[in-house]
Amino acid sequence: MKKVTFKVNGCSRQFIVDKDLVLLDLLRKDLRLTGAKQSCDRKGQCGACTVILDGKAVRSCLTKVDKLDGADVITVEGLGTPRNPHLIQEAFVLSGAIQCGFCTPGMIMAAKALLDQNINPNGDDIKKALRRNLCRCTGYKKIIEAVQLAGRFLRGETTPEQVRPDPSQGLIGVSHPRPSAMLKACGVAEFTADISVPGALELAAVHSPHAHAVIKSIDASAAEKMPGVIGVMTAKDIKGTNRLKYLVPDRPILCDVKVRQIGDPVAAVLAETREQAVAAARAVRVDYDPLPVMRTPAEALSEGALQIHSDRPNLCYTQPQIRGDAEAALARSAAVVETDFSTQITHQAALEPEACVAYLENDESGDLPILVVIGRSINIHFSMGMLQDAVGYENLRYEEAYSGGQFGIKLDITSEGLAAGAALHFKRPVRYIPSLMESLWLTSKRHAFDMKVRIGADAQGKLTAYAIDFTVNNGAYHSNGNVIVNRALWMLSGSYYIPAIKAMGRLVYTNSIFGSSARGAGPPQANYALESAIDMLAEKMKIDPLEFRLINSLEPGQPKSTGRIVEQWPFPGLVEAVRPHYERARKEAAGWNRKNNVIKRGAGLGTGAFGIASPG
Ligand code: FES
Ligand code: FES
Repeated sequence: MKKVTFKVNGCSRQFIVDKDLVLLDLLRKDLRLTGAKQSCDRKGQCGACTVILDGKAVRSCLTKVDKLDGADVITVEGLGTPRNPHLIQEAFVLSGAIQCGFCTPGMIMAAKALLDQNINPNGDDIKKALRRNLCRCTGYKKIIEAVQLAGRFLRGETTPEQVRPDPSQGLIGVSHPRPSAMLKACGVAEFTADISVPGALELAAVHSPHAHAVIKSIDASAAEKMPGVIGVMTAKDIKGTNRLKYLVPDRPILCDVKVRQIGDPVAAVLAETREQAVAAARAVRVDYDPLPVMRTPAEALSEGALQIHSDRPNLCYTQPQIRGDAEAALARSAAVVETDFSTQITHQAALEPEACVAYLENDESGDLPILVVIGRSINIHFSMGMLQDAVGYENLRYEEAYSGGQFGIKLDITSEGLAAGAALHFKRPVRYIPSLMESLWLTSKRHAFDMKVRIGADAQGKLTAYAIDFTVNNGAYHSNGNVIVNRALWMLSGSYYIPAIKAMGRLVYTNSIFGSSARGAGPPQANYALESAIDMLAEKMKIDPLEFRLINSLEPGQPKSTGRIVEQWPFPGLVEAVRPHYERARKEAAGWNRKNNVIKRGAGLGTGAFGIASPG
């Protein structure tokens, strides 16, 4: 141990610390300064933990406290408060540079360190200063603008009062700051991992190293004897269905009979500290009987493939969409393109890990306490119902804390089942703050699509028919898989009038990580195939691809692939708006290509017609 004295936000503090303690943990755990965030498992990769140390921006997760004797540390809380914010905080709020806000304190501290040295930075200076800070939601443009605006404030060229929109000037067409932006800018918006509950146990899950295996036995005896351990929870300790049912009750909180994807949780260790829980989780012995792993629909549908869920076939959903006689129309077409497309599974990569806090609260109006679950789901009433069934407890309240990044990943719940089950089982408050690796395992992904398409046009370039056969890799659990298939079909014909349609969507269980909503949820994959096939057909017919799109636009009174008649269709006007940019881009690319033989450039087109929810 070592005694160190240094300043935190202007106050001199003394600490006796272990050599391994990093500044981020001292700030967050000991000083309860939770403005600095943690995303990348303290690997120095996200910048969410940035603070200022002796005038320089540093990643506090990499900064050892025992080296800080005599230092001067400033955190986001040391800059300003929502009532009395720093000009940089004002600039981020007024520039619209804050969406989920998880990255914001780190960004602001990196910006402060820059502006302290250089009050008039150019774009390159700002990019260099923020190069270690990741943002998943806002995009960096607004953040760079915020730093530029902060510079103008600091140089006295303008003031927040001059920039702030005046609500009396109307609400439409005016960019008002997000109501929560100032709390996020000042680091006082509490994300789930920032919430502390007195006496809370910390949870660590035991995750399967196998993508498909039978669980033969779980031996927690060694783990239970380890320091700080309160107990180990397995599936038999969960009193409800133990299934987190979005549409189909197939995803266990803790796996009982089998594991079906890498990282499936099989046991949860509860201990006084996260470190103790993680150490004990490693001591839990699980005996598995590995089964064949089917990562792709082709493998899961192959002859003799094992059923991943005993009560459901691997081909778990099919949905056709037929309009007219596409086969006959393709046979009559002047040109046909036939090809395959595939998309991959993608992770939405929210910066915030999948944290959850659960505790029992006295209920004045009833005999049973309320099980309060604080998590990151955006679907709180639905999530409450899922949890009630899964843990077998009716008197439950789900609260959403500030959530770090959504992108569809927060439609389903993950850590909430474990924390809620453990709070009920051990009758103690529970915090489950998984690592980034665990969060990757626990969360749903964008579905991979395999698509076989045929598209035809007549001699004038008018589309005649579209046939698509697509197979969706559902992963190990259903979530809203059939909705993804349906949404791909609902928006299948995109911006175009296609008289004949022959489509079939299939959903297949595999041992990949399960899929669910992800920006667009289904149509982006199907639109990628359609738009690419349109380009190929236009090229085959020697028609300019923009022109080809224009002549095939839907018109009011014509049906989409679903049969729904459109009443308005602004697509031709959009094509005309794009035309000058398209022509300029083509000219520029041609100019480049004349001078360069190795790297060539082109101009790409892609359109989409998208409806949210369940648009026919
Ligand atoms: S860089 Fe420190 S938590 Fe990611
Ligand atoms: S606003 Fe930057 S990560 Fe969400």
